[in-house]
Parts: sequence; C-alpha cells; structure tokens
Amino acid sequence: MSEINGLTSEKLIIGDDVFVPFLTEEQIQNRLKELAQQISHDYKEKIQIFIGVLNGAFIFLADLIKNVTINCELDFFKLSSYGDSKISSGNVRLLKELNCDVNGREIIIVEDIVDTGLSLQYIRRLMENYKPSSVKIVSLLVKPKSLKYNAKIDYIGFEIPSKFVIGYGLDYAQKYRNLRAIYILSENGV
Ligand code: IMP
Ligand code: MG
Repeated sequence: MSEINGLTSEKLIIGDDVFVPFLTEEQIQNRLKELAQQISHDYKEKIQIFIGVLNGAFIFLADLIKNVTINCELDFFKLSSYGDSKISSGNVRLLKELNCDVNGREIIIVEDIVDTGLSLQYIRRLMENYKPSSVKIVSLLVKPKSLKYNAKIDYIGFEIPSKFVIGYGLDYAQKYRNLRAIYILSENGV
C-alpha cells in the first residue's frame, strides 16, 4: 500500500476497496483560489461570516479563507449523516450549533461535498430561524446525479460522478482526511 499522507499518484488499497487519484493538490488549490476571488469580488465591502460544516469542510474552509481578500468572520456547524458507511443514511443530525449571532448578517455556508443534498436542505431550514440577510452556499465538490432535489449551490469547485471520494477533509470511517489530494473509489480496481 502507498504512503497515506502526502501526494502519491498510486492507488490506495483500503480493505476490499481500491481508490485511484482523482484531483491533485494543485488542481484543488487552483480552483479554490478562483472561488475565493469570485467570493471576494461578489461581497466587496460587506463583511460576511463563513460557516463551515464539520468535519469534512475544515481543510477546504481553511484554504479558502486564506485566499479571500475581504474581511470575514468564521463559525461552524457540525452535522452527521454518514456514520461510518459509504452511503448517506439520509438521517441528518445536528451535533454542534452555531455560536455567533447571524441575524441580519451575510452568510456563506462552506461544504466539502454535496451528495444527496439532504444536509444542505437541513442547513437551509435551520438558517431560516436565524434570519440572516443572505445565505449563499459554496461546496468544493458536488455530485449532480445524486441530488435528490433542486439544491441551489452558489459556488461549486468541481462537479464529480456519483462515486465515493476521500481525502482533503473527506473521510472514510473517519480516516484519510489528511490526504492532500482527492481519491475516488474505483469499481473495477483500475
Ligand atoms: P448529503 O447530505 O448526502 O448531501 O451528504 C453530505 C455529507 O456527506 C457531506 O458533507 C460529506 O460529509 C458526506 N459525504 C458525501 N459524499 C461523500 C463522499 O464521497 N466521501 C466522503 N464523504 C461524503
Ligand atoms: Mg460534510
């Protein structure tokens, strides 16, 4: 098996599963710089609050705001839906609430990946109670074919196939978040 952290062009064999390289560190960093530029441009003088969805979004959020050129604040939600499986349970639970007052503020929700979109739907409903002046969503990855309803995502890093991915914050049974690149589950082992 290849080294687990750092960049490798080799496949990762995890139990019976084979993951192959999908997005390199460079591709991810280049795309997130473009997203950060666009967000900085769209918000100009308005100070917004970036709200990361834990655990998956923590690395993307950190790299994203390092490239944002306007003032911003930060907070986190923690949601759980996957447990240790590769398939969404569809049963979203709130594990950590917001700690800041978002009433009347400009909010940007930061997700690692939108799969079925159920977590996003849950967050949107939750945000309605807090009465922010605006809510936008940025997600590094979106699986368009898995979406269960017409979810509006304002800033998308990459649209990807409906396959399980790991690395760059995304886990499989809580592991592999520390990979710098993103790997995708290979169905035929190549
Ligand atoms: P959704 O509610 O089905 O859209 O799933 C949302 C959450 O499930 C994401 O924020 C991730 O934390 C997790 N998730 C979805 N797809 C993957 C994947 O391919 N790898 C790892 N985690 C995933
Ligand atoms: Mg997530």
